[in-house]
Amino acid sequence: MGKTEDKVLIIGQGGREHALARVFQKSGLFKKVFVAPGNPLMEFLERVECVSELSYPEPSKIVDFCRSQRIALVYVSPDNALAEGLVDVLVGDGIKAFGPTKGAARLEGSKIFAKKLMLEAQVPTAHPLFMGSYHDAKDFVARSCLKLPLVLKADGLALGKGVVVCETAQDLEEAWDFLKGHQNLVIEEVLRGREVSLFYFCAGREAYYFDSACDYKRLLVGNKGPNTGGMGSYRYHAETTLVTFTTQKIVLPILEALHRCGSPYFGILYVGLMITNEGPKVLEFNARLGDPEAQCLLPLYDPGELCEMFQSIAIDRRIPLRDLRPRVQHSVHVVKVSEGYPASEMKLGQDIQGLDQLEQWPENCFIFGAGITKHMSGRWLNSGGRVLGVTVISNDPCEAYQKAHEYIKKIQFNGGFSRGDVGAELCRGL
Ligand code: AMP
Ligand code: GLY
Repeated sequence: MGKTEDKVLIIGQGGREHALARVFQKSGLFKKVFVAPGNPLMEFLERVECVSELSYPEPSKIVDFCRSQRIALVYVSPDNALAEGLVDVLVGDGIKAFGPTKGAARLEGSKIFAKKLMLEAQVPTAHPLFMGSYHDAKDFVARSCLKLPLVLKADGLALGKGVVVCETAQDLEEAWDFLKGHQNLVIEEVLRGREVSLFYFCAGREAYYFDSACDYKRLLVGNKGPNTGGMGSYRYHAETTLVTFTTQKIVLPILEALHRCGSPYFGILYVGLMITNEGPKVLEFNARLGDPEAQCLLPLYDPGELCEMFQSIAIDRRIPLRDLRPRVQHSVHVVKVSEGYPASEMKLGQDIQGLDQLEQWPENCFIFGAGITKHMSGRWLNSGGRVLGVTVISNDPCEAYQKAHEYIKKIQFNGGFSRGDVGAELCRGL
């Protein structure tokens, strides 16, 4: 366990890392929580300091910082830092780090690697066809009798932009334009059903089910409009049968396969599932907590117990012998985005109102920043697409939904927009 004189460093800057910073800070186990580069809203938390000049990808600077500050643990949160092997660099330098190595993070970083491993481990997933180039894929679809709908996926991290679900001939045409220049592609069948994400703590061949969440990828109410980085999330109460199936038929076989190929997995595994009529099938694996799923799940748990889990996996390389149970049952997280998002032309630099009232918020409401900056004059401005988000936790699901929307409205800026139906499922029953 961490000692109260220890310092921790979190790599990342969005709402997910803000929620993590709160966990480390509230655990009382660390005298200092650094976040690199972080965002200035995090510094509302006592003993949290952003190291804005230390941004990824500069592993050597991160190593120097860890040495000079005697950092006890580094939590590597974003997908690119994991895929590029920051954990390997840190561990190679004798620094304790939470997160999978580059080899294990291929589960997210390469769709082809992940798919081949799933086939080898007999994990249920959509049937794939592997294409060595964009032109091969295009020729194949044109000449074969493949029927729409189908899914096209580019290999490699693409910031959520490497997947196109093609329902119509026009979608397919647009997909070819969109995927031009990509090397390896996967063509796969479309899965239909309900999408749910399950999160596991993993240590080599051991897995511990953490929790589940649903996110909202589309910009507009009713799942309309363009895909975004995520407009909000809520805790999903997964049935025991779903969890048992996912653990036995998906997570343990994948961990075993990774272990066999010399890349044992230590960290959080995100299992993106489609619950189809034929049972749950894997859409994707991510090698980390989701954003914005982390913002709705982490505040439900005891911060000390979460830190014990992180430290035990990173330092002792095992899952601790204790149950992790949420202290509160329901949560909703609503994101506020800038006008124009997700296009690159956005209305930025707008004054954000309402942050001076945060101290009066009830203790079941949390704010997490992302694309936000503080001007020298003290004014708060939006500086990115997803600006901030509000989480409300409650044992009353309707209260979580209603209050999350009530409180996100208290934070205002010109052009700011949030999706009004995030968490509405909780009021209609699951
Ligand atoms: P991925 O990058 O593989 O995680 O996919 C991103 C999103 O694309 C998923 O969350 C799904 O909404 C959608 N998706 C991916 N694969 C499929 C599939 N085979 N059928 C339907 N939707 C899919
Ligand atoms: N919410 C999806 C992700 O973090 O990838």
